[in-house]
Amino acid sequence: MAHHQRPAVAVTGLGSHLPPRRITNDELAARLDTDDEWITTRTGIRTRHWASPGTSTGDLAVEAGLRALKSAGLRPEPGAVDAVVLATTTPDHPCPATAPSVAARLQLGTAAAYDIAGVCSGFLYAMATASAQIIAGQAERILVIGAETYSTILNPADRTTSVIFGDGAGAVVLSATRDADRPGVLLGVDLGADGSRADLIRIPAGGSRQRANPDDPGLEDPYFTMQGKQVFTAAVTRMQHSATSLLDRIGWSTDQVDHLVGHQANVRILKTLARQLEIPEERAVINIDRVGNTSAASIPLALADATASGRLTPGSRVLLTAFGGGLTWGSVALTWPDNLSVG
Ligand code: COA
Repeated sequence: MAHHQRPAVAVTGLGSHLPPRRITNDELAARLDTDDEWITTRTGIRTRHWASPGTSTGDLAVEAGLRALKSAGLRPEPGAVDAVVLATTTPDHPCPATAPSVAARLQLGTAAAYDIAGVCSGFLYAMATASAQIIAGQAERILVIGAETYSTILNPADRTTSVIFGDGAGAVVLSATRDADRPGVLLGVDLGADGSRADLIRIPAGGSRQRANPDDPGLEDPYFTMQGKQVFTAAVTRMQHSATSLLDRIGWSTDQVDHLVGHQANVRILKTLARQLEIPEERAVINIDRVGNTSAASIPLALADATASGRLTPGSRVLLTAFGGGLTWGSVALTWPDNLSVG
């Protein structure tokens, strides 16, 4: 029997979208016991975007998805992609998944569509499953989207979370390729989880453990909660170990990494991570100052920002790494594609 060589997977499109409403630190300080100085020095965040009431995660995902398709030279039409994978913590509804409606709104026919719930690591989990589908021959092209509207789950009275999170969406198109050496090819994936620490980041109510009960609405329960200090430490450790084990596996030394694109959780986390990986700080891509922590949208928004500013050049070595609720974490290594215009 003829041996069929497995395809490689390349990034062939990239798009992003931010809702227009920009929220400054001063606006938050007007209603919470906080100030611009605290937020800037502790998190590195200056502004974030919040969707207007009525705008959903799916709405942002459609915009980013459209731009990524265009960037890949694809029209939004049946057959353009074989699947749509949407990473989100803030789906339009608890049921069904948001990806099918996004796929329908993008006119993508009957492409497979599913959500991934990996919180801030969701986009890398989505890239991992999508690329595995392509390598297995189940799909040629997949639209992978990370989209969030954290503004809908933040407790407006909680200063520790309200100042950190933002809304937005980013997307890539992953395509099968027979040329494993071409720029843009994914070179390795590392994923991990530790559910024994699920309590550090969660929304207590609304699932089967604690149903939303209109007769007895727990005050804080429907809102996103986070133990910031413990999350900070775990984030640095897990991203460092995940990145190191992936680099070891693919044979890159840390000084071969041209761009470290970490989950934009906190600028101090990103700088500590770079230092511990012995990657010069200036190789860390940072856009958290303008978008805050956008969870599953964080990595593709950072990629889009760095591409638009001309920072990510063809063939450069890019290391993506993320950490989030679950706990979950992951890393992806790739070279940056040629001629990628960000939509
Ligand atoms: N404004 C002013 N003060 C604030 C504040 C705010 N927005 N939020 C918290 N504080 C206060 C705290 O109440 C605390 O006061 P106390 O010392 O009187 O108790 C003090 O600031 C220090 O709080 P602490 O939580 O120890 O600060 P920190 O340096 O750990 O920073 C985070 C807090 C949330 C910014 C930080 O822990 C963090 O970024 N964690 C990771 C979060 C993250 O990215 N999660 C996403 C999933 S990956």
